[in-house]
Amino acid sequence: MEDLLAQLRGSRTDLARIVEVASRTELGYIVVPAGAVRAWEEREPSTWAKVRDWLTAKGKIVVEFEGQTRTPWSAATPPHHGGSDMAYKLPPLRFSYDALEPYIDAETMELHHDKHHQTYVDALNKAIEPYPHLADLPIEDLLRRLDQVPEAIRTAVRNHGGGHVNHQFFWTVLGPTGGGSPRGAIADAITKDFGSFERFQSLFTDAAAKHFGSGWAFLVMNPSTERIEILSLPNQESVLLHGKPGLLCCDVWEHAYYLKYRNRRPDYLGAWWNVVAWDVVDQRLQDCRAGRSSTA
Ligand SMILES: [Fe+2]
Repeated sequence: MEDLLAQLRGSRTDLARIVEVASRTELGYIVVPAGAVRAWEEREPSTWAKVRDWLTAKGKIVVEFEGQTRTPWSAATPPHHGGSDMAYKLPPLRFSYDALEPYIDAETMELHHDKHHQTYVDALNKAIEPYPHLADLPIEDLLRRLDQVPEAIRTAVRNHGGGHVNHQFFWTVLGPTGGGSPRGAIADAITKDFGSFERFQSLFTDAAAKHFGSGWAFLVMNPSTERIEILSLPNQESVLLHGKPGLLCCDVWEHAYYLKYRNRRPDYLGAWWNVVAWDVVDQRLQDCRAGRSSTA
């Protein structure tokens, strides 16, 4: 650390401070303002890269905090976290198992939520057991900063953390009063970027139907183009790994439809459109544009 601090003495920014604070804390993360990180990336990228490497070697994850704080380089608890008992939890469904009938049957919902999603949560908690401080972090932060997660558990966090965050996302964009056509900002964005809702629906269905094996179809915001786009990802890969906030997602693992639809994935997809909660998708787009996107 002394060597690194000596190198940082010539730094024009406050990078030495983060190293000092990180070396004092027992926690596995350090909270810094997102604006400071952007400034380091812009003004002295190679020095910042050196500090990042040092933090990674020390097992410290950088959690970016949007907004002002009086103690900017603190190692305080992040503004939102995984739970008070140091473990991730299965969030409850906001509707009953049979609420999506006849499109998605109650038995599938119960198994999918209570067994499959729970298994991802359990496996994630098991993986991070040797690093209990990590459970203080929102799962979204762990995935966004996967390269800083200890290598020994990186694949497990990618798979099980991805499974947790994808399902959490999935349950929120479904609802018994969903379906139909979108309205508001999301409707305008779909028309602008895809030509029409019908064309978007056809492209999204196609991406989901043709996805080889298990995986997901997503509608995401591309921050660099400010356009919305369709993304098809394998297994439990999260859109957070791609830096593209998710607006809508469809689970095309067989466990999502096999009990009712057997191998007829296109029939499941046709039914699925009837339970898409467009009001939630619209809110996610507005949050994303307002810079409030903290979830998948
Ligand atoms: Fe699933």
